[in-house]
Amino acid sequence: MDNKTIAGRVQALLAEMTLEEKAAQMVQVPVPFVGHEEALRWARLGAGSFLHVLGDEAREIQKAAIEESRLGIPVIFGIDAIHGHGLNDHATIFPTQLAAACSWNPDVAYTMGRVTAREVATDGLHWTFSPVLCLGRDTRWGRIDETFGEDPYLAGEMGVAIIRGYQGDDLSDGEHILACAKHYIGYGEAVGARDACDTEMTYRKLREVFLPPFKKAVDAGVGSVMTAYGAIDGTPFTIDSVSLKDILRGELGFDGFVVTDWDNVNSLVRRQHVAETAEQASVMAAKAGNDMIMTSTQFYDAVIRAVRAGELEESVLDEAVRHILTVKLRMNLFEKPEKTGRPGCLGCAEHLAAARDAADRSLVLLANDGVLPLQPSVRKVAVIGSNADDIRAQYGDWTYFTHPTPNPAHEPVRPYVTVKEGVEAACAKRGMACVYHRGCSVMDGEDEDIAGAVGAAKDADAIVLVVGDVIEQTGEEKDRAVLELSGRQMELFDALRALGIPLITVLVASKPLAVGRAATDADAFLCAFNGGMFGGEAVAKAIFGELNPSGRLPISFPRASGQVPVYYNSLPGWHRQAGKGYCDLPDTPLYAFGEGIGYSAFAYDGLTFDEKTLEAGVNVTNTGRMTGTETVQAYFRDVVSSVLTPVRQLIAFRQVMLAPGETAHVTFRFARGDFSLVNRREQRVTEPGEFVLMIGHSSRDEDLLKASFRL
Ligand code: BGC
Repeated sequence: MDNKTIAGRVQALLAEMTLEEKAAQMVQVPVPFVGHEEALRWARLGAGSFLHVLGDEAREIQKAAIEESRLGIPVIFGIDAIHGHGLNDHATIFPTQLAAACSWNPDVAYTMGRVTAREVATDGLHWTFSPVLCLGRDTRWGRIDETFGEDPYLAGEMGVAIIRGYQGDDLSDGEHILACAKHYIGYGEAVGARDACDTEMTYRKLREVFLPPFKKAVDAGVGSVMTAYGAIDGTPFTIDSVSLKDILRGELGFDGFVVTDWDNVNSLVRRQHVAETAEQASVMAAKAGNDMIMTSTQFYDAVIRAVRAGELEESVLDEAVRHILTVKLRMNLFEKPEKTGRPGCLGCAEHLAAARDAADRSLVLLANDGVLPLQPSVRKVAVIGSNADDIRAQYGDWTYFTHPTPNPAHEPVRPYVTVKEGVEAACAKRGMACVYHRGCSVMDGEDEDIAGAVGAAKDADAIVLVVGDVIEQTGEEKDRAVLELSGRQMELFDALRALGIPLITVLVASKPLAVGRAATDADAFLCAFNGGMFGGEAVAKAIFGELNPSGRLPISFPRASGQVPVYYNSLPGWHRQAGKGYCDLPDTPLYAFGEGIGYSAFAYDGLTFDEKTLEAGVNVTNTGRMTGTETVQAYFRDVVSSVLTPVRQLIAFRQVMLAPGETAHVTFRFARGDFSLVNRREQRVTEPGEFVLMIGHSSRDEDLLKASFRL
């Protein structure tokens, strides 16, 4: 259907709708909270959307909406399919966004989106509240796992790819679903990483750092945007018409619909105290540009009363409903209210293969003194640590048994492979012995047995110690003030280290923890984050050399909690010259953005940059003994600028796979706008003057070749 036909149909529908039907169209009903009967009542009233409902229950609600509401407008069902359609027990579970971002490979994100869309569509649903385009800069925040890391460029590239996977080229296609860019905007920037609190944000900073991924999402045609819980300069983002109307609609040209986050309207009254009543809050939310109201069902009565009392123009509702109906028509819901999906595709072989590939590419090797891959002379491996065999910890947040709280009623559904199982299988294949001991729990527990773990490991030839965090330390309202390893994990590490046996530390966690000597004093350190179904298998393959880890960090690792935030693209400062840090610690991270070594080594030379064509070239050689994939990273710095600009900022990357000894000439073509900043008048401009282009292996200064140029 073309845009003109859609606009005509929307207009015709709007002309028929009563005030009540318009208000109902803007409401999104939380099915598990209101219950099935109440959900059906809302469907008959003409509610526009429902969330957190699956399969046949969704079908029944849809039937009520179509057959029993006056106008029969189809409902749109939303679900948090965050790393796979995880709230369905039988879905394919991918690595989290953070883990997937370690691949630095937009194809991985695209495939995650594509597979997830198909599984969601098959379940009778239309819309995922994904991707998260917040930046993971303050790693104390509980939702770091949901981000694509700390950098706006990388987050934007991965975000666009997953949106394309979800939405395809045509939203009316039976296997594609609506994506939702969230949380608009600056949610991750809460002061002290206190979830959903205020931010130290200005509009200039918002435009400079946080807007670019959302701009890319809008340019890629994302159909919905969710507001953030936080606030900018004292105004909750949910009622901030500057960011919602002037910037999102006006400047970016967003033409989908905006949905609030969970109960954001009531939070204006109860938590943020900027409105006295639900009615006031509802009017504020509608006026600021929210089209759909998640879960705050009081909105319905409130806006009807407000319009009747002359406190809210009905045209405000018309505009919101126009946005919602336009998307529903683009999705062809009036003709086909249920997506076709692909029956039987949940957890099918093709989808599992995609999850496996994503897990493989998400693994980051950060240190290796030569112990990895393990040599055939190793005859016995000891796997230690409770996270080596905790599928909930491996999956992380947003699955059927981990969100919002661990749900013991749901048994983990196979297939999945923990680190313990992966290493056991790899050892069995090679005729090696393998023992497992949990040692201690991740948080303080009662059944700690460090001595038992030491006993189990003492005659092994190699120890694989898995440390990390658990689901109780991850997610909404689960921010951490202390990022050092919790419980007795460090004690366990020290006891095992004292055995003098080669020791490989593996991190299964939702975020970069302050792992300290558990990484630096180990013989090797592998970062797996939350690798999804096959995260454990990927670790085992890397340990035995079946996989050459190619991941690179999308986020920096702190040396200690007090160093956070430690993101690479910080602004320069008078007392922050290179090499000078805190008086008790350097200010460089333990592992930097972009870092990752794998089993190959890459040498860079011959950087060229042409000021006229803005073309750069560099030679990259695999100097190792294994075929490997290198991620060639390009950063720039504006040498003198009207406002402080980052010490370096990523502007491009490319992956090349090279055989031992092979050299590739990697080229980049830039545009003037790639070297831009946001000035004090909040305009994005490229200021003439001197710049430095930096290309190399990671964001670390010593890993980058540099070329100066003028624009
Ligand atoms: C989260 C959103 C999520 C929504 C619906 C909120 O609490 O912040 O990310 O999509 O709930 O589950």
